[in-house]
Amino acid sequence: MGAQSIFVMTLSTTIGSLSLHTPLLTGSGTFGHDASALSFLNPDDLGALVLKTVTPQPRPGNPNPRMAEYEGGILNSIGLENRGLHYWRDKVAPELAQIAVPVIANAGGHTLEEYVEMTIAFSEMEGVEGIELNLSCPNVEGGTRFATDPIALAQVVAACRVVTEKPLWAKLSPNVESIVPFAQAAEQAGADALTVSNTFLGLLVDWRTRQPQLGRGFGGVSGSGIRPLALRFVYESAQAVEIPIVASGGAASAKDVLDFMVAGASAVQIGTAAFRTPDLLSKIAQDLRALLKEDGSTIQTLIGSLEWPSL
Ligand SMILES: Cc1cc2nc3c(=O)[nH]c(=O)nc-3n(C[C@H](O)[C@H](O)[C@H](O)COP(=O)(O)O)c2cc1C
Repeated sequence: MGAQSIFVMTLSTTIGSLSLHTPLLTGSGTFGHDASALSFLNPDDLGALVLKTVTPQPRPGNPNPRMAEYEGGILNSIGLENRGLHYWRDKVAPELAQIAVPVIANAGGHTLEEYVEMTIAFSEMEGVEGIELNLSCPNVEGGTRFATDPIALAQVVAACRVVTEKPLWAKLSPNVESIVPFAQAAEQAGADALTVSNTFLGLLVDWRTRQPQLGRGFGGVSGSGIRPLALRFVYESAQAVEIPIVASGGAASAKDVLDFMVAGASAVQIGTAAFRTPDLLSKIAQDLRALLKEDGSTIQTLIGSLEWPSL
């Protein structure tokens, strides 16, 4: 076995039936609508490309400004801007079949029927390996309806489950008191994995203008400031369900990725941290290889290995 294969095995992970050669994924909406991120990311370093949410109809998104920075990360209210299913099916999907990494398409909708429509469409696209249901966007009217009511969430997941055999991930909202009922509802409804989680509802204001910094007022907080909050939800979800957890929230280094994995994640999405350093994923992959070699461990042995203090 060559040195390269040993490296590949060290970082390899599985999310249900999907085998990924690294645990590093892009976060939906932070690496674009198509596969163009592969022009600056080495496919060997990337486990899967998770693309921006697509909705049945095109959406113009929210009024500007849509992003504001603070010392812990950013606040955004993009509002699921996208060109809609027809454009995506005709222009984006055909290219995805040619690329070297698995693609997870992300489905958005306002109603159960819209999620089902997106799931059927993605199921028929050759280049889509799995489907992530965005049940948790805080930046659109009614965007968290399904993520803040476990019964509604289970109905959407169950309805999408029956129309696809592709891996189906439910992306949960952090804007709840406890994530456990949502994680369990998604699992019971047939999700193959959970993405934990999306952005936290937040607000930045400018005291001089007496106005919110974003055109829509509230937005979703992402970046390193939310990492401990996301880590808690990842740990609690992993304790509550058997299906794999994909972490999302503030990861910016190999150490952060391993922290999420020890807490129970089988893979980790990187979003906001890559805005400053677009090839950050490749740097993290290199650092992961070095850290695991030094520790004599593999990703598989680390997942869920957190030892909780006995009181
Ligand atoms: C500008 C921006 C756009 C986003 N768009 C989407 C989206 O379209 N669909 C989605 O499921 N999540 C979206 N997210 C949430 C991210 O995928 C991720 O869950 C969140 O930002 C937390 O991870 P991070 O701190 O690594 O960025 C977006 C986040 C940002 C910052």
